[in-house]
Amino acid sequence: MSVTAAEPLRDGHGRLIEDVRVSVTDRCNFRCQYCMPAEGLPWLDRKELLSFEELERVVRLLAGMGVRDVRLTGGEPLVRRGLPRLVERLSQVEGLREVSLTTNGYLLERDADELAATGIKRVNVSLDSLQRDRFFHMTRRDALPQVLRGLEALARHPGVRPIKVNAVAMRGFTEEEALPFAEFARSSAFQVRFIEFMPLDADRSWSSDSVLTGDEVRALISAVHPLEELPRERSGTARVFRFTDGRGEIGFVNPVSEPFCADCNRIRLTAEGKLRTCLFSLHETDLRRPLRDGACDTEIEQIVRAAVWRKELKHQVGEEGFRRPARTMSAIGG
Ligand code: 5AD
Ligand code: SF4
Repeated sequence: MSVTAAEPLRDGHGRLIEDVRVSVTDRCNFRCQYCMPAEGLPWLDRKELLSFEELERVVRLLAGMGVRDVRLTGGEPLVRRGLPRLVERLSQVEGLREVSLTTNGYLLERDADELAATGIKRVNVSLDSLQRDRFFHMTRRDALPQVLRGLEALARHPGVRPIKVNAVAMRGFTEEEALPFAEFARSSAFQVRFIEFMPLDADRSWSSDSVLTGDEVRALISAVHPLEELPRERSGTARVFRFTDGRGEIGFVNPVSEPFCADCNRIRLTAEGKLRTCLFSLHETDLRRPLRDGACDTEIEQIVRAAVWRKELKHQVGEEGFRRPARTMSAIGG
């Protein structure tokens, strides 16, 4: 019997769930303005984190229900000790198409070879500025050269593609970054994407005005380098444009100005084992307790199906009555 024989995972709005974001730690070695406070956050205890065994079990059960893609996130996933071992285990789960990673890149120089060898397929690296002082301002770490070395180390592995560079777009900051990133996209093998700032920052400095929209960034770029939109990928969140002179492409993820909730195929698992059906969920479902209390596969599967069934129709960022989740991005997993 094939592992996909079970009923696919569907929510109450008819959306098929095929993608899970798994946070492996809430800790991070950066303190990005749009995510963490300068002093950090109260971290989870080691024993509160799902173990690699527990994570593998959840992923195997999800794969049995039709989940195809797993993306490992944090916090910063590479600060979790032995992460390549988890990649190796997950890469062997039957029914999965790919295991990918979202990282700040700081430890990539150390880990790129091992990650490639253990089967990572695609990697997103967060990078908000190509200027050292501005990178420092945004991440509160003077680490641009280290991150660029990490990107180079990864690029040496042709099996890891695409490698995407993600920049969070904030008004008053990212205007100056648009053209340098366009040049970077045109002259390197990396795919650059701008992501609109979302209200998930610990400092609660988000306001609608602080979002530099994808359209605004695109206008800055297309004034210099004409762009042409490419067909949208299936369940892809980015709008991707090619430079009309044929030199590369650039993407925009616009969750605030153009929400893509109707096509959302994702769920999330926090580092301590809470299932979240939306980045902005106000409710979550604990999987750790049943996992540790000896629940059988069928019981866990039922808990997951019931939670997914209640997946939110859409987020309400920017609408009247929107309530932020208590968690910051680092405690959810991007
Ligand atoms: N808004 C948008 N993107 C964010 N990220 C972190 N916090 C926010 C936010 N408030 C991004 C990071 C990384 C991914 C995990 O999420 O830059 O690319
Ligand atoms: Fe760390 Fe990522 Fe949050 Fe930056 S955005 S502080 S790299 S978890």
